[in-house]
Amino acid sequence: MSRVYHPSDYVVEKSLLPSFDEYKKMHKKSIEDPEGFWSEIANEFYWQTPYQPGNFVSYNFNIEKGNIFIKWMEGAVTNVCFNLLDRNVRNGHGDKIAYYWEGNHPDDYSRITYKKLLSLVCQFANALRENGIRKGDKVSIYMPMVMETIVCMLACARIGAVHSVVFAGFSCDSLAERMSACEAKVLVTADGAWRGEKLLNLKQMCDDAMQKAKTKFNHSIEKCIVVSHLKRVTACGKLPDDLSSMYNWNDDVDVWWHDFVEGQSTICPPEWMEAEDPLFMLYTSGSTGKPKGVLHTTAGYLLHSATSFRYVFDYRDKDVFWCTADVGWITGHTYVVYAPLANAATSLVFEGTPFYPDNDRYWSIVEKYKVTQFYTAPTAIRSLMKFGDGLVAKHNLQSLRVLASVGEPINPEAWHWYYNVIGGGRCSISDTFFQTETGGHVLTPLPGATPMKPGSAGFPFFGVEPALLDEEGKIVEGPGEGYLVFARPWPSIMRTLFGDHDRFESTYFSKFPGYYCTGDGARRDEDGFLWVTGRIDDMLNVSGHLMSTSEVEGVLTEEPRVSEAAVVSKPHPVKGESLYCFVILNEGAKFDDDLVNCLKKLVRGRIGAFAAPDVIQYAPGLPKTRSGKIMRRILRKIAIGDKNIGDTSTLTDPSIVEELFKNRPQK
Ligand code: WT7
Repeated sequence: MSRVYHPSDYVVEKSLLPSFDEYKKMHKKSIEDPEGFWSEIANEFYWQTPYQPGNFVSYNFNIEKGNIFIKWMEGAVTNVCFNLLDRNVRNGHGDKIAYYWEGNHPDDYSRITYKKLLSLVCQFANALRENGIRKGDKVSIYMPMVMETIVCMLACARIGAVHSVVFAGFSCDSLAERMSACEAKVLVTADGAWRGEKLLNLKQMCDDAMQKAKTKFNHSIEKCIVVSHLKRVTACGKLPDDLSSMYNWNDDVDVWWHDFVEGQSTICPPEWMEAEDPLFMLYTSGSTGKPKGVLHTTAGYLLHSATSFRYVFDYRDKDVFWCTADVGWITGHTYVVYAPLANAATSLVFEGTPFYPDNDRYWSIVEKYKVTQFYTAPTAIRSLMKFGDGLVAKHNLQSLRVLASVGEPINPEAWHWYYNVIGGGRCSISDTFFQTETGGHVLTPLPGATPMKPGSAGFPFFGVEPALLDEEGKIVEGPGEGYLVFARPWPSIMRTLFGDHDRFESTYFSKFPGYYCTGDGARRDEDGFLWVTGRIDDMLNVSGHLMSTSEVEGVLTEEPRVSEAAVVSKPHPVKGESLYCFVILNEGAKFDDDLVNCLKKLVRGRIGAFAAPDVIQYAPGLPKTRSGKIMRRILRKIAIGDKNIGDTSTLTDPSIVEELFKNRPQK
């Protein structure tokens, strides 16, 4: 039984939502009267054509009754960029800092006000327009974490162009595939960037991608706009004397950002957009097949992102918000760019890594900017835990009030470290569950209102109606486990997969007619808390007992010698499946029989004898995608000793696979 942590007085005192009852009341209203609930928020924004009462939300979630569709505020007309910038400047926030920028090297930093951001966005938007980019045209973005990335996204929103950001850690093949799939006319990049001491040759990657797009997909980019970034930052490693030797330059296509915007006006009339006009798309990998172009639209995304930011981080006027996610992911889109700006917030954009120049970089940044809300991923927390508490203690983290986590279930071990060591026992932790597809948070505690259980994502956000279904599609009431689905749309749910509405319907709506299917499993405990147990395809069935890999991983990482664990299923002649566990150790810990026995005992003790792992293998690292997801497919192959592992190009470090094969215990 896990302990319940109540929000501290420190958090509750000035909280926007200081009680759980209040949350329940608001949630009830958001479900019973969506129009009443959301139109209050909509009223804060600017509408060129206001919404005419009638059909605030219309949808079909039941594939047996026809095509799936979702529409919010149909008939209203607005512009998201105008709401994020012009509206805030007009409301007196022009001189407020929109972003602090902290470079990869600690000597590189800058800041930008709302007013300045608006003028840069207008100039870039005008330049795009002058080059023929119009409403509905697609713009691919392959950029480091610099201000131009945000300027470019907002400029697209201003003129109705649809941006498609590709995380700059993706290979040139992935970039080629994604920019061809979305039919991008323009590609925006930088000459290069530093990540720690590593130099990323971004322009060269784009050169290769443009080449591949042409030969493989018969797709040509009209303009490649390049930010000259390397010259203005401190070199963190070896740099060629002649930067132009790092890439090709094709005068017909390539243009420097500074030349592109040269002479453009800082005033740019926005393109007025229908509520359901596309805002952006973002590719996410499917469990099979090609990447999926998740499409988000205008009004609903604005409402939900703004609202979730406010309540989930308990945002106040003078706060300094920091989300460490790269803008290449949905977390970065919503909680680095759109949501903070919609609230006229000040936030931080960090270009570097948590490990450069030292392993306390995150904590030194929190101290430097007096960050009030810190939002990161469990994998980052675990990797920083490894270095011990001493590095944290060097810094004053008193400014922190809300901590948040996203991307995977957070194991109780990491949760406690985050809570006690980083948060000093005074901060609330928002364990936010969402997906590229959901646009914003769907399950999450709210800092001043929700009691916390380490590892639980708490309760549904406003407008969200979750359900747990069994294999037959029957609703699991009360305590129990099942498929995590949603019974109705909230404003920021995706509207389609770009160019493939059939795949949209079959991937998310065909398994359980009437519901959006997340692909995750979840458990509801006796107090109604929801626990996301991980992707349903990561479920294990040992002798008829269902359990989730993350459940076992949480237990393994309770052992002080273990920093991270990954569990996969290995076929077993008697039990059906058995547990095969990979463990990464903390600095100084030794992998020996004693550890293996302790771990087996621990799992037996915590979950049950049926859950006792068959194999525990030492792992120097795990095969992870660039978004930090463990590729369990590969671990399952290693578990059975099958070297036929297929494509490993999406891994951050493909060499780890060979090492893991070598480390297999001989028995
Ligand atoms: C998948 C979505 C959402 C931002 C980054 C990932 C897992 C995400 C949590 C959480 C448990 C979580 C789910 C989900 N996930 N947040 N708080 N607790 N699991 O976006 O790449 O679309 O991945 O991430 O499995 O389905 P994404």
